[in-house]
Amino acid sequence: MTSDASSWTPSSWRARSAAQQPDWPDEGALDDVLKRLGTRPPLVFAGEVRQLTSTLAEVAAGRAFLLQAGDCAESFEAFTADAIRDKLKVILQMAVVLTYGAGVPVVKMGRIAGQFAKPRSSPTEVVDGVELPAYRGDMVNDMTAEPAARIPDPGRLQRAYDQSASTMNLLRAFTKGGFADLNQVHTWNQEFVASSAEGQRYERIAAGIERALRFMAACGIDLASEATLHQVDFWTSHEALILGYEEALTRRDSLTGGWYDCSAHFVWVGDRTRQPDGAHLEFFRGINNPVGLKLGPTVSPDEAVELCDRLNPTRIPGRLSLITRLGAERAGELLPPLIRAVRDSGHPVVWVCDPMHGNTYLSAGGRKTRHLDHVLAEIGAFFRAHRAEGTWPGGVHVELTGDDVTECLGGAEEVLDSQLDLRYLTACDPRLNGRQSLDLAYRVAELLRG
Ligand code: PEP
Ligand code: CO
Repeated sequence: MTSDASSWTPSSWRARSAAQQPDWPDEGALDDVLKRLGTRPPLVFAGEVRQLTSTLAEVAAGRAFLLQAGDCAESFEAFTADAIRDKLKVILQMAVVLTYGAGVPVVKMGRIAGQFAKPRSSPTEVVDGVELPAYRGDMVNDMTAEPAARIPDPGRLQRAYDQSASTMNLLRAFTKGGFADLNQVHTWNQEFVASSAEGQRYERIAAGIERALRFMAACGIDLASEATLHQVDFWTSHEALILGYEEALTRRDSLTGGWYDCSAHFVWVGDRTRQPDGAHLEFFRGINNPVGLKLGPTVSPDEAVELCDRLNPTRIPGRLSLITRLGAERAGELLPPLIRAVRDSGHPVVWVCDPMHGNTYLSAGGRKTRHLDHVLAEIGAFFRAHRAEGTWPGGVHVELTGDDVTECLGGAEEVLDSQLDLRYLTACDPRLNGRQSLDLAYRVAELLRG
């Protein structure tokens, strides 16, 4: 441990400048909530978090692939068991397509059970001609277009914790209690997906898996006792943006004495909060979770290496994932120098492609959208660059939902510009629907095979 590391505490970030924090109007009320959260049970346990680091070390070594997916922003409004189940179904379907199609173990991680805070490009936004403080996620304020709704309310931190706890509870039940059993592979295909070409293609894979399971059983293999066929490990993650909340959930592990941010298994630093001397980097360097770092087009190769040094000075494999989000147009030019610098520095990172956040634009009708063609183009550029540099394209990070929304354009069953208004339901950025998500999984499986 360096002297730097020993001076770290869960609150040492408070001496640094913290980007993107809300202007809480009542500091006393904020402190009360944070104190209370500091006494609440952790949402995850240090042992699980360490297990994820080992699993991600397999990805860093090129022996597994990470699928990280979920809402841009979870919402208090859209909080139902069905919504959680349907999101899980899509992620399980994508994982099946990847595992079956590419023969690579898939690490399944949700942007879920804590993804409630959003960094914003501007502190205000104009809605119907009226300028309002920006919506910063349900953990902070309300998206309703009224000035009062936009005032940060610390009670929302408590609500975000409560919703995360009950989401986590359901996810644990679903993934360990039979729902994620490989024998259920058909039931993950929702009606609106199953009726499409993508869904039919999935049905054929599911039938193949069922045949393989019957074949193994007929050979005398005791499938009932194979836990990996009946349960999945599903990990939670979010952007650890609101540092007071993350600090309150940071606990010392009684076994190792190390600190863990127990708000999720995996947390990441956003592209807007990765200042090397800023509060987010300070907080992240001291927690022992595996962490992610978003890298947008403004990062230089030297800066990327400096951030790796700060976040993973002892170079633990699986500790650090670099999530590039460069845009389809520029990824081919910007990614190779980043890859070379990090590779040559010897940092054992997991390389992940976020093909969403560099490809957002306004549709003709003024909706924030993304086109699946651009999303797939950035993934293609990511695979090409890593293949050329001899590094492992370790994963994808996408925004999706299990619902039949019309937020992103394109796909085999194409969503058109004129259809965006039909079911545009996101609390923040546009998400892929279930069919588009499967399209993406087929494409990634091809690239992994290729
Ligand atoms: C996000 O992942 O929702 C996000 C805001 O990403 P970025 O920090 O990469 O812009
Ligand atoms: Co987003």
